[in-house]
Amino acid sequence: MTALLRVILVIALLCLSMAVHAGGAKIWSGEELYYTCAACHGSKGEGLTPRHAPKIAGLEAWYLERQINNYKAGIRGNHPGDLYGSQMILFARTLGNDDEVVQLARYIASLPRTPARQTIKGDLGRGGEIYATCTDCHGQRGEGNKDSDAPRLAGTDDWYLASQLRNFRAGALGYSDQDRLGKQMADSVRNPLIDDASIMDVVAYINFLGTDDSTSKR
Ligand code: HEC
Ligand code: HEC
Repeated sequence: MTALLRVILVIALLCLSMAVHAGGAKIWSGEELYYTCAACHGSKGEGLTPRHAPKIAGLEAWYLERQINNYKAGIRGNHPGDLYGSQMILFARTLGNDDEVVQLARYIASLPRTPARQTIKGDLGRGGEIYATCTDCHGQRGEGNKDSDAPRLAGTDDWYLASQLRNFRAGALGYSDQDRLGKQMADSVRNPLIDDASIMDVVAYINFLGTDDSTSKR
């Protein structure tokens, strides 16, 4: 998509979302609130690669809630070079109150967790060795762990995982002083510093975990 078309899309969606919220005191359900999100994240939360919008269906409600609130507060997406994150700040800010965020997060978490298309290949042996350093927080099977505040990775879009690992490494994620968990995650890819080949290998391994049915059970 060209830059101009993207800007037009974003403005049109923002107008739509504001029109919805201007509609009075109605309490919107998670499903209704999701209409604006669907234009980029897909009608079932499956993600739309051309918009750089990841699959969000079936992520845990507690993680979704935190990320939406982080965007809303400008704790995530506020790095000057983070074009995609800054778009998300705009949309998170169209959500009215905490209850809307809770309803929306619950709705997205309930969407079917269909497998993402796999586009990245790598050395699974090496990927498994690297992933062994991630399991304490993200779980043996990449299923995520609420106690460590670490999200599910298995079954997520591989291009997005790789892009986020590069963003953490570059400091575009975990940028804000208030983003304690983002900074902690950034430390995990900086000490020791993870190179591009290792990112491909570990993401290929997470792909492999995502093909295992046991991680998609709720
Ligand atoms: C104009 C397109 C667009 C719209 C509309 C949009 N998003 Fe996004 N969203 C993105 C992009 C692009 C990213 C990836 C940001 C990045 O690369 O860091 C993203 C990231 C996210 C993430 C982070 C996922 C993760 O795994 O960390 C969540 C959660 C999210 N969006 C929820 C929503 C919700 C809820 C709405 C509706 C209120 C919405 N988005 C509307 C484009 C959009
Ligand atoms: C000390 C705990 C910890 C370790 C170790 C750790 N992570 Fe994380 N990771 C987190 C937390 C917490 C988050 C969520 C950060 C946030 O709230 O923005 C996260 C987020 C991520 C994300 C972004 C997911 C998304 O949907 O946006 C990716 C990708 C990721 N971690 C991959 C890894 C990989 C690969 C490793 C091993 C090399 C690893 N992590 C090691 C705690 C950890």
